[in-house]
Amino acid sequence: MGRRRPVQSQPSDQAVPAAAADNWWRQAVIYQIYPRSFADSDGDGIGDLPGITARLEHLTELGVDALWLSPFYPSPQADAGYDVADYRGVDPIFGELSDAYALIESAHRRGLRVIVDLVPNHTSSAHPWFAAALAAGPGSPERARYIFRDGRGPGGDEPPNDWQSVFGGPAWSRVTEPDGSPGQWYLHLFDPAQPDLNWDNDEVRAEFLDILRTWLERGVDGFRVDVAHGLVKQADLADWHYPQETLSGGTDQRRPPMWDQEGVHEIYRSWRALLDTYPGGKILVAEAWVQPAERLAAYTRPDEMHQAFNFEYLQASWTAADQYAVIDRSLAAADSVGATPTWVLSNHDVVRHASRLGLPVGTPRPNGIGIGDPQPDVQLGLRRARAASLLMLALPGSAYLYQGEELGLPEHLRLPDEARQDPTWERSGHTERGRDGARVPIPWEADAPSYGFGPTDASWLPQPGVWAEFALDRQRDVPGSTYEMYRTALRLRRALGLGSGTVEWLESGDEVLFFRNGPVRVLTNFGAEAVPLPEGAELLHASGPLDTDGNVPTDVTVWLRD
Ligand code: GLC
Repeated sequence: MGRRRPVQSQPSDQAVPAAAADNWWRQAVIYQIYPRSFADSDGDGIGDLPGITARLEHLTELGVDALWLSPFYPSPQADAGYDVADYRGVDPIFGELSDAYALIESAHRRGLRVIVDLVPNHTSSAHPWFAAALAAGPGSPERARYIFRDGRGPGGDEPPNDWQSVFGGPAWSRVTEPDGSPGQWYLHLFDPAQPDLNWDNDEVRAEFLDILRTWLERGVDGFRVDVAHGLVKQADLADWHYPQETLSGGTDQRRPPMWDQEGVHEIYRSWRALLDTYPGGKILVAEAWVQPAERLAAYTRPDEMHQAFNFEYLQASWTAADQYAVIDRSLAAADSVGATPTWVLSNHDVVRHASRLGLPVGTPRPNGIGIGDPQPDVQLGLRRARAASLLMLALPGSAYLYQGEELGLPEHLRLPDEARQDPTWERSGHTERGRDGARVPIPWEADAPSYGFGPTDASWLPQPGVWAEFALDRQRDVPGSTYEMYRTALRLRRALGLGSGTVEWLESGDEVLFFRNGPVRVLTNFGAEAVPLPEGAELLHASGPLDTDGNVPTDVTVWLRD
């Protein structure tokens, strides 16, 4: 199949990044932009695409290779845009299609690749397909694009199985049929406003290939695939008998019937085949909460996706032993399929690592932190977050950063519950605070309205007072600031080829993680006592100051040159 010419007004073919190597992604640092909360150009309190375009300089100054945009498509915003009503458009709150083109073109001019979010597990209930399914009634081809079933029990009053929604409550909702009678049930692994698609349906498969093609023609460099482990369900939709604890599947001997089914791989092979018809290294990255690392690696076999987020790494506890184990396992698993590993510490779904790491070591990852919850040690969290980030950025492979982590931003720990918008809070019956605390609009200027997020004070989630001290303008050119730590790390990582290096373990123990990557030795001190710098080492970079004796204090990472 030949490459079609892009239609006029789409970003031009010339606008490709300078470093056009097809395997750019193998060592790329990719920056996640959460459009609602990055930069607001019109002052309505919700970030937008023109806001992002106007701030792209920040990404080049920081030194990342690519950006990933969380969804900006037309959506009722029941799940902050992960409920998509039109996969080819732009929601008016974020701008217009021409703003997406301008953003892609402007990023490319700066040598930044652009990855967009693809949400194939479910549509919005406002998607025309779902409206058609409701109108057409049981047994229709329109219903066959989703997972409709009759209920169990007398009158079909009980859901078809016992599955729970990730956000809490049952994973099934009942519809009213066109004639007004109580009707069938439809599956939604997330919010009722996010009906799951039926991936056994040919129309669904064809539609997503076309959506991929549409965005490829518009010049994007890849897709982050939402809930990549969920598209195919076990055919009999058998009861699971267990609560839906997290998105994570596969730690159990028995695989949950809704996650990580073998059938997903065939879908990704077909997508890969399409991407490979485009030049320039177009990529797929799986959001798959799959363990262990070997099962996750299956998503990145040579004819499937390029990358998968490494959530096992994100969830590893802050001890030398656990960090060693997860890094070593991730390297081996990626290697076994010829992929490179990925590393991630924060995203829009988890408590920011500057706060998470301030909780006692071994605390299970909380789903949000709010007033009345055990609070992290803020200073300790930041100190460990900096050490963790510097450790991560020394590892070979690809690293994902979440907007604001380069400023050391904590979670909003005291977000008023009335302000919460994540459906998790309501659906869990106010037992899980949810993800809003990681999604608060980020601070650019300490003394500006909404800390420079937009031209007014408006901010869709309230920003905490501490944002001033984290603002970019308080950190830029300030030696030792978190921002300058990231910038230097990214510059050195590139200059020294750390992303394409290999890990050679040096004497690590219970207290210290120590490895070599090319010309650099990397040491993180997890122990209670400071450790001396290895003999003859030149200090290249550090996540915090050495102590007065020149030793590496607790919770500090150093990069050393021989
Ligand atoms: C992914 C997204 C999350 C969303 C969910 C449902 O996990 O990252 O934000 O709520 O999918 O689409």
